[in-house]
Formats: sequence, structure tokens, C-alpha cells
Amino acid sequence: MAELPRPRYRPRRLRRTAAIRALVRETSVDTDRLVQPLFIREDPRMESAIPSMPGIFRLTMDEAASEAEQLAELGVPAVILFGLPAEKDSLGQGAYDENGVVQQAVRAVKRAAPDVIVMTDVCLCEYTDHGHCGVIRDGRIDNDGSLELLAKTAVSQARAGADLVAPSAMMDGQVGAIRAALDRAGFEETAILAYAAKHASAFYGPFRDAADSVPRFGDRRTYQKDPANLRESLREIALDLEEGADIVMVKPALAYLDVIRAARERFDAPLAAYSVSGEYSLIKAAAERGWVDERSVVEETITAIRRAGADLILTYYAKDFARWRRERRA
Ligand code: PBG
Repeated sequence: MAELPRPRYRPRRLRRTAAIRALVRETSVDTDRLVQPLFIREDPRMESAIPSMPGIFRLTMDEAASEAEQLAELGVPAVILFGLPAEKDSLGQGAYDENGVVQQAVRAVKRAAPDVIVMTDVCLCEYTDHGHCGVIRDGRIDNDGSLELLAKTAVSQARAGADLVAPSAMMDGQVGAIRAALDRAGFEETAILAYAAKHASAFYGPFRDAADSVPRFGDRRTYQKDPANLRESLREIALDLEEGADIVMVKPALAYLDVIRAARERFDAPLAAYSVSGEYSLIKAAAERGWVDERSVVEETITAIRRAGADLILTYYAKDFARWRRERRA
């Protein structure tokens, strides 16, 4: 038999050892780009465990403060807070109460861990009895009527000490309304992380479980964007930047890596990606059954989100990731 042609190029040369692989690795993930979402319960009697998110808990103020200390110690730089109020009403008043659950939690976290960056979700759905992200008028989600309440929410969070506010209601003009209200109240240094391309996604299921925020009628498709549209995501991001967003976000992450990549190429602003509750729970459930190796899958998915172009990543695995990194280095 004639001799087979020998490969001219041998990519395997650079895969030979772990050290060589590290030398030529294109994408790195560090804990200093991760943001840990925290759920805070106002009523200490509220159930702590979240059945669809094993390992994630609804925290009391004290627990949130101590969690922030642990995160700081592990090198996770930031948290984003979601409030679970003791009571809900049609106007979501708990969202903009100066002494609301998130406002209290911001103060508690800042007191315990002053260096932790505190972000706050600006939305009404956790606070409204109908579960929608805006207020209802004539059976519809009233865009402009919701803006004032979202702006009030952001200002009250800034006043409590939030470093960044993160509007997620997907009301048109929300970033501009919040920027104007913050500036008017003297919070021109408070930054806005805009949930710009937020898709109407089934991956939010476990979060709605955690926050008891399933809409009581209809769904969120009249304000969250159609998962099928990429150009529309870019338009949403452009609008939020024009309105004054400092950081723009794509959400969810894993099923939207193409959107992250396209946004990275089109815009210069810092880009965030939110690896949402359903992404966490899918991995968790498979790992619990022994079907995948949790650490490897988490490392691989976070790397993929970074490779797609995200600068920072909101993930329920932030703390675990930091802990696993530390163990590996030890
Ligand atoms: C509030 C909000 C939601 C999430 C973040 N902010 C819920 C929703 O839009 O239904 C989802 C986060 C997650 O699933 O982890 N509107």
C-alpha cells in the first residue's frame, strides 16, 4: 500500500499539554465578571427553598447581608437584588416604597459588604397582584402610565444606595424616563444596566416560581420581545443606548448567543448577558441525575457566553463558580 499523505498542519501540537493550551486560549472567564442574583424575602415566614431552583434560596435581610460578605470573600464583585414583598397590589407599590424589601436589602448589603457592587432589578411584576411588569388600564398593560412608577422605583433604589439600576419591564422609553428621574433627583452617578434585548422566554419559568410572578392573565409577549427576531434586538439595544443606558444586556444567554455576538460587533458599550433561571435549572436537574458533570458544563457554558461577546454575566452559578475556581487553585 502506498504511503498515506502526512498532515501538513498539525493543530494538535498546541493541544499537547495543559500549559500550551492555556497559552493559546482565546477566551477566559474570571469571577470578576460575574454577578450573583439574590432573591430577598420581606416576610421571614415565607418559604426559603425554591423547588425549581435547588441550591438557590429566598433570603432574609440578614442572610442577604451575610451572603454578600461571602461573595466578596470569594471574589464575586456584584449582586443583583430581586425583592419578594410581603404584599402585592395592582400598582406594585412595594417596588417604590422607600422602605420596601429591595430598598432595605440594598442598605443591608451595603452595610455588610461596602465594596460589593449592588444592582437592582427595576420592574413591577414581583410587586403587582396581576403579575405584569406594568400597570393595567382598560385590560391592557399601560406603557406610559408605567414609566412614572418605574422611574420612582429606580430613584428609591438609588437613594437606598444601589450602584446600578437595571430596568427589566420592557416598557418603551423606560431607560430615558429613569435617566431623567435619576438626574433630577441628584443621582447622575447611578448607572443604568438596561435589559435591552429581553426576550419573551420560557426559560424564566423557575424565576416566576421563586417570585410568584406568573401573570394572572395573558402573557408577556406584548412587551418582551419575540425570540425569533434578531434585528429587532439590535434596534432595542440602539434605542436604550440613545436613551442613556450605560450597559446593555441580552437575556436569556444560551439560546441567544447569536444575539450577543451581533450586539458585540455592532455596539461599543459594555455588554451583559443574563444566564437565566431556566438555564440554571436545566443544568442542575441533569447534574442531580448524574447525566452531566455540573462543574464542566457550567465552565463550558459561561465560557461560551464570554466567547459570544459578553463582558459581564449574570448567573445563578456565580458563587459556585468562584468556589470551584478556588478549590482548583488550592
Ligand atoms: C422581571 C424579571 C424577570 C427576570 C428578571 N427580571 C422575570 C420575567 O421577566 O418574567 C427573569 C430572570 C430569570 O429567569 O432568571 N421582569
